[in-house]
Amino acid sequence: MTGLAQRHKKLERNVTLLALGAFVTVAIGGIVEIAPLFWIDNTIEKVDGMRPYTPLEQAGRDIYIREGCYACHSQMIRPFRDEAERYGHYSLAAESMFDHPFQWGSKRTGPDLARVGGRYSDEWHVQHLKDPRSVVPETVMPKYGFLAENDLDIGDPAARLLALRRVGVPYTDKDLEMAIADITAQADPEADAGDLEKRYPKAQIRDFDGNPQRLTEMDALVAYLQMLGTLVDVNAAAAQEELAQETGR
Ligand code: HEC
Repeated sequence: MTGLAQRHKKLERNVTLLALGAFVTVAIGGIVEIAPLFWIDNTIEKVDGMRPYTPLEQAGRDIYIREGCYACHSQMIRPFRDEAERYGHYSLAAESMFDHPFQWGSKRTGPDLARVGGRYSDEWHVQHLKDPRSVVPETVMPKYGFLAENDLDIGDPAARLLALRRVGVPYTDKDLEMAIADITAQADPEADAGDLEKRYPKAQIRDFDGNPQRLTEMDALVAYLQMLGTLVDVNAAAAQEELAQETGR
C-alpha cells in the first residue's frame, strides 16, 4: 500500500478525524459562498423606474395576500424561453426589492402575474374577479365579487408605510403625511391628486372598479394588478445589467 492510501485509511477509520476533515471541506464551500456577501454593498442590481407602492397599490397588495391569491399565482418569471414567451421578460431581482413579503410563489394553478399590469382593461379584471367563469369558462378560480361590495378600510395608511420604511422601503416624510389623501385621490379622477404622480412615477390615477362613487376593495386590488410589472423598462434594465457584468461595472 502506498503512503497516501495508508493515511487515507487512517482518516477513514478514525471518526473524529473524519468528522473534522468533512467539516473543514464543507466550511471551505460555505466561506466561498457566504463571505463575499459581507464585502459587496448590494446584492441587488439597481434598475431605473423602481419605486415603492402607492398607498392604494399597497392596500390592494394587502388584499391580494389576505385572499390568498398567491396560493394559485406566482409573481416571478423564470429565465426560461417558454416562460418569457408566455409571460414576458424574466423578472429582475430589483423588481421585488420593495416587496414585504415577496410574492414569488411556488405554485401556479393560474398564470404568473408578475407582468399582468396593462394586459387587460379594468373592466376585464372586475368582471373576471366577480365571476371568472363568465370570461374563462374552464377556469377554477374562485369568485371575488364581494370585493366590489366592501368599502376599502383605509385604516391608517401612514402607519402601514412607516412599518415598511422600517424594513427599508424608502418612503419619505411627505409620503407618510399624504398617505390618506393619496389613497383616496388615486381612485378618484375628480380629486386633486397633488404631486402624487411626481412622488410615485407611473402611478395610474382613475376609478378602477367602475363605481366612481365609492372607494372599494376592488379599486385597490385592480390598481395593484394594473401596476404589476409596469415600472421598469425591463429590456433596457437587462441590457444595462449584462453590460455591467461584462465590464465588471
Ligand atoms: C384556486 C386557484 C386560484 C385562486 C385562489 C386565484 N386564482 Fe386567479 N386564476 C386562476 C386560474 C386557473 C386562472 C387562469 C384562467 C382564468 O383566467 O381564470 C387565473 C387567472 C387570473 C388572472 C388572469 C391572468 C392572465 O394572465 O390571464 C388574474 C389577473 C388573476 N387570476 C387574479 C387573481 C387574484 C387577484 C386572485 C385573488 C383575489 C386570484 N386570482 C385567485 C386560479 C386562481
